[in-house]
Amino acid sequence: MKDKIRIAVIGCGRFSPSFVPLFKAHPAVEEVYVCDLKRERAEDFAQRFGVKIIDSFEDALASERINCVAVFTQRFAHGKMVIEALKAGKNVYSAVPCTIDYEDIAEIADLVRRTRLTYSMGETGFYRAATIFCRRKFLCGSFGQFVYGEAQYNHDIRNMEMSFRSSGGEEWRKYAGIPPLFYPTHSTSMILGAMPGVYAKRVTAFGFAGSRRTDIFGREGQNLYDNPFSNTAMMLELSNGGIARISENRCIGWKAPETYITQFYGDCGGYEFSVARHSFATWDPENDHNVIMRDVTKECQPSSVYELIEKDYDKAVAAIGNGIGFTESAPVQPTARLPKEFDGMPNGHNGTHQFLVDDFCRAYTTGKLSPTNIWQVARFNYPGLLGHQSAMQGGRVLDVPDIGDPPEDWEVLPWDR
Ligand SMILES: NC(=O)c1ccc[n+]([C@@H]2O[C@H](COP(=O)([O-])OP(=O)(O)OC[C@H]3O[C@@H](n4cnc5c(N)ncnc54)[C@H](O)[C@@H]3O)[C@@H](O)[C@H]2O)c1
Repeated sequence: MKDKIRIAVIGCGRFSPSFVPLFKAHPAVEEVYVCDLKRERAEDFAQRFGVKIIDSFEDALASERINCVAVFTQRFAHGKMVIEALKAGKNVYSAVPCTIDYEDIAEIADLVRRTRLTYSMGETGFYRAATIFCRRKFLCGSFGQFVYGEAQYNHDIRNMEMSFRSSGGEEWRKYAGIPPLFYPTHSTSMILGAMPGVYAKRVTAFGFAGSRRTDIFGREGQNLYDNPFSNTAMMLELSNGGIARISENRCIGWKAPETYITQFYGDCGGYEFSVARHSFATWDPENDHNVIMRDVTKECQPSSVYELIEKDYDKAVAAIGNGIGFTESAPVQPTARLPKEFDGMPNGHNGTHQFLVDDFCRAYTTGKLSPTNIWQVARFNYPGLLGHQSAMQGGRVLDVPDIGDPPEDWEVLPWDR
């Protein structure tokens, strides 16, 4: 029988506090360690969450007791750390993105294929209510043949300053200027995550280089990437013939929701979302000339948000902007599959965190692949990495690499049960 999970959480910054208690509570986990270059952060976590400290990432990799690591370092650092961890024989949970260097992706897949270690990337977009709604309807054929979809991740730099300052200090702007498409997975995962097996074949992208934030975005060393774009939009030609428009915006007059599907159309059905309300349409099977339109908000919003929408729409919109429902689940999310130990525990990013921890733990325990395994998340990451190159070349159409489907003899865990 497999050992229980003994996991070291690497990086005690702003995001991982939402995950340490979940790892600790999961029935497959025996021990949680925390680690940070800033020792005081690890000490604070150890005290707050009642977990042990491991001195360094290298010590975690060298430890015979620790069998898993969870990488919660800054967004540019994941790829190389994941590769090192897999080489050291550790199972890996990684925060998004997978990597900002597209060559890492094939290496991670190769290591996972050879070692059969667990790799799971914690993509919140995969479990957002809209993605699940569209995935369910797509898989049962309600959309018919997919033709066009749109998703975006809008997060203004003004609301990200604290996150970048957390590790970047006074130099935070240099990190904040990371190309928006180096962090594409919240939006790509919503369209591609709704259509398992589908991937992008070609990309063309355009960037907005006229941001007023010249302290952050520009080619002249304002940031570590010589990145001029605060906002980038890309068009993807998909393997099923459909088209997707994805945009990543860092200077934008918008608050919440941050990540959402605006449109998802097939030739037999369509989904749209606007601020609070979700709509779904299908051709009437009994009348060839009629389309049945439905409001599906009740399925896709947490009950508290839905009730407010019904009572006072203006108030609901304002409340959504202020984060109402951010930690709650919607009826469409398959919460029944989660361990009972998670009942009543925090579940941020619209009720998604618990699924991500559970997927990693179930994948490790069963030896099956996590739904967000490397083959799946490669398809969320590649389009952005290539899309940025396209935008830097004025929208040149580029081929998007694909590492294919998971090995045939390696079953993927169901995401809904
Ligand atoms: N919705 C989402 O999925 C979502 C939301 C927020 C953040 N994130 C991701 O989570 C990650 C962490 O974000 P954050 O806001 O907590 O960042 P942060 O800068 O606050 O924290 C990162 C921490 O990692 C530590 N660290 C860096 N290198 C290390 C090393 N080698 N060994 C030990 N510690 C090390 C830093 O000292 C810092 O405390 C980012 O990659 C971000 O993209 C994802």
